[in-house]
Amino acid sequence: MKNILITGGAGFIGSHVVRLFVTKYPAYKIINLDALTYAGNLENLSDIDQSPNYFFERVNILDVPELERVFNEHQITDVVHLAAESHVDRSIHSPLDFVYTNIVGTVNLLNAAKQYWKADLENHLFYHVSTDEVYGALGATGFFTESTPYHPNSPYSASKASSDHFVRAYGETYGLPFVISNCSNNYGPYHFPEKLIPLFINNIITKRPLPVYGDGLYTRDWLYVKDHAIAIDLVFHKGKKDETYNIGGFNEWRNIDLVKLLCKQMDEKLGNQPGTSDALITYVKDRPGHDRRYAIDATKINVELGWKPSVTFEQGLSETIDWFFDNQEWLNNVTSGAYSKYYDHMYENR
Ligand code: NAD
Ligand code: TYD
Repeated sequence: MKNILITGGAGFIGSHVVRLFVTKYPAYKIINLDALTYAGNLENLSDIDQSPNYFFERVNILDVPELERVFNEHQITDVVHLAAESHVDRSIHSPLDFVYTNIVGTVNLLNAAKQYWKADLENHLFYHVSTDEVYGALGATGFFTESTPYHPNSPYSASKASSDHFVRAYGETYGLPFVISNCSNNYGPYHFPEKLIPLFINNIITKRPLPVYGDGLYTRDWLYVKDHAIAIDLVFHKGKKDETYNIGGFNEWRNIDLVKLLCKQMDEKLGNQPGTSDALITYVKDRPGHDRRYAIDATKINVELGWKPSVTFEQGLSETIDWFFDNQEWLNNVTSGAYSKYYDHMYENR
């Protein structure tokens, strides 16, 4: 019997993790703790939010007494920590928001766990979900392994790197059992349309320019979000305590090549003439400190836990586009801001 606190469960990746755990493990109690910032959307979980083993707590990880209350009230046995400010461009404009949530919030959560589990720390797990961006930028060759030194370049990656260090330090100093995974760029259903793929899908639907930063030759390693959730489930249950796992799909794409594939698939699905969406591609001013290339070496999780991605990028991208076509209301609610009313609607009488 486990009572698992999943933070950030109303966000993009968190909602997939919550859905997987709630449906796959009916004997577990899943407590989704989320502040519902602009990125948190309970509509992401409307298909499972009536499940008897699902609970929602609208709590900010900066609120220490509330964290303590949640640990006590739900008798939390394990944590899967995803709550974070997650967008690099926002971190360039408002770095302190990232310091507070990603660093201070993570330390608050570590303290709450350490305090509540103090009688038998070894029977619990603090799983910290992190990013490959902590490793910095690669040149044309090579991969990030679990032993690549950290070299974060953006306020976002610096805050995630710091939170990773705190988690490891709590393991070393206080004996708090932990596991960390560092994943590459995710894409898929419920992706907030400020990130490259959902933004461009939305802009193609609404016939707006596709703003490609700089020369478009930046490279990212893309993973379907459901495969990330499956990896998190595996690492949570089978990963070695106090270790790190890199998660990625050996799936590198230069931004411009990805955008052209997206345009091609969208044109086919929309019945457009080939090249219609390519005409929307617009090169714009580069992001400051833009990391040139990310690429994950996912050998460890593959060899130790038998994980590998289940879909090719072409399949995953096609499924993602279909999901956005089928869920225009979700997209409209997010782009209009109406999604924030869902909480009041769902929870006004609870
Ligand atoms: P997201 O921005 O979609 O969701 C973040 C969630 O955290 C939201 O629901 C938000 O309401 C919540 N949140 C933010 N601040 C909070 C606070 N102070 N207290 C409580 N809740 C708060 O992010 P995502 O893309 O789903 O990423 C989830 C995690 O995975 C993050 O830790 C991120 O660093 C990591 N990650 C993301 C990617 C990616 O490609 N998106 C890749 C690797 C790792
Ligand atoms: P993004 O989805 O923001 O993820 P991250 O910065 O965490 O990798 O961006 C993915 C890549 O796409 C990155 O190289 C920046 C680039 N990009 C654009 O070219 N235009 C855009 O409008 C956005 C949002 C991103």
